[in-house]
Amino acid sequence: MSQGNSAGAALDNRPFDAPRPAEYQPLPDQINKRRAKSFELPPGPNAAISDYLTFTFLFDTPKFLMKMKKKYGAACSFFLARKLFVAMFSPQAVYEITIAKQHQFVKGVGFARMRKVLGEGLLTNEEPIHLQHRRMMQPPFHHQNLDSYVALMHQIVKERVNKWNEQVDLAPEMMALTLEIVAQCLFGLDSNKYTSQIAHSMEIAIDRIERTMLPGLDRFDTSRLKYFQSFREASDDLVRISEEIIENRMKSNSERTDDLLGILLAMRSQISINHIRDEVLTLILSGHETTANVLTWAFSYLSKNPDWQQRLQDEAKNWDLSKAPTYEELEQKTPIASAILWEALRLAPPVWVAPRIAIEDVEVDGVKIPKGAHVLVSQYVTQRDEQNFENPNEFNPQRWLDPNFEKSLPKGAYFPFGAGSRKCLGEYFALAESRLILLFVGQLFKLQNQFPKAQPRATYRPKGKVPTKLVRI
Ligand code: HEM
Repeated sequence: MSQGNSAGAALDNRPFDAPRPAEYQPLPDQINKRRAKSFELPPGPNAAISDYLTFTFLFDTPKFLMKMKKKYGAACSFFLARKLFVAMFSPQAVYEITIAKQHQFVKGVGFARMRKVLGEGLLTNEEPIHLQHRRMMQPPFHHQNLDSYVALMHQIVKERVNKWNEQVDLAPEMMALTLEIVAQCLFGLDSNKYTSQIAHSMEIAIDRIERTMLPGLDRFDTSRLKYFQSFREASDDLVRISEEIIENRMKSNSERTDDLLGILLAMRSQISINHIRDEVLTLILSGHETTANVLTWAFSYLSKNPDWQQRLQDEAKNWDLSKAPTYEELEQKTPIASAILWEALRLAPPVWVAPRIAIEDVEVDGVKIPKGAHVLVSQYVTQRDEQNFENPNEFNPQRWLDPNFEKSLPKGAYFPFGAGSRKCLGEYFALAESRLILLFVGQLFKLQNQFPKAQPRATYRPKGKVPTKLVRI
């Protein structure tokens, strides 16, 4: 790791240039059009229009996938950047790919790009490193261990939301708030110093990860094109921030083990300092952008649905928010806030596609997927399936208030936090802070905004700042 912490310090082992780790399984050859002819594949558009498809895929991927499902059904195949992709939309396929047959897949397109920013952190790591790190990092995120985080979240949200006035730019405000929460809870860090730098570098990284995720586009990474150079700069800046956080903690000689950074540093005999750096960065990035996006969507849906805004307000009124709740209270006494959250996560899932690569020949929901195929499952598409969700494009939190509804869903029908061994580490953390933020805002303000357009990138982002009028209740 770099010894310095100034912006000009040289970065050792920078993720942007790191090769695929030798510990990972080697990747099978991808499948081109010629080789694909020897397989029995699900239906899909003609391979001759692959370049056109690649363009439409990159232009608006959720729309592209929705169209594929409408035209070809639950499974389809197509070529992007001249490589074979199989998209599977049935809940059964999601269940098999993410749980029952998860070991026949590794993470796919997009994740190698993400590794250029996050290095070998939990989100991007493959086995055997992934499991070793997951075991070390899981305990503090267990819902039984979240009360002290909830107390800190409560303090942060209270302070920040109480300062709101007549108007707020919801998208950057939610980013700053969730970043502050993750920084303070996990790293004991005041994030203000880093907020704008992280936001700027993340914006670039997230755009490039998504826009250049198709096979072959990585060859431009070393080019002089500004678009690709700024990807490298964003990655290096984020890595420097992570290194600075660790160095400051080490210089302080603190023996803290009550936050995640302390826990990781105490385990240095088992985890290298570069891996700690990558985990810090992974948690900062995966731990705030997703939650911020879903909250911005949730409040925007509420602005469009004043009856639900009223119901949230009625629920929030019953809470004494002068003192911190426990995790259990938040989980059990927020039926309306939770239903709003489940519905926003259904319609605007921050992680909206899960790309994988088949590392063996495997049969999924009756479809034979050849080794080397890229495989896509999508929260966005499957969670809008009319077979499981009546009026699927409608914001209707009421469906989650029926106690039998969730139980009646087939496995794999709803998976905003993923599933299997790659399931989100921060699910309960995210749910706790989101419920708290919904309660605080619901108790204090009525919101009104213009419903934002989507800007799907590596996460499902609302476009623009989402200016929102506030009326104090
Ligand atoms: C509403 C907010 C969030 C959503 C919707 C979400 C969603 C997801 C999803 C779908 C995955 C799996 C990706 C895949 O299978 O390819 C994932 C993984 C992960 N998430 Fe989250 N996440 C959220 C918040 C958080 C928070 C708050 C943290 C940390 C504080 C976090 C940390 C992680 C990590 C470390 C992984 C990788 C887990 C592994 O592979 O072992 N996430 N998340």
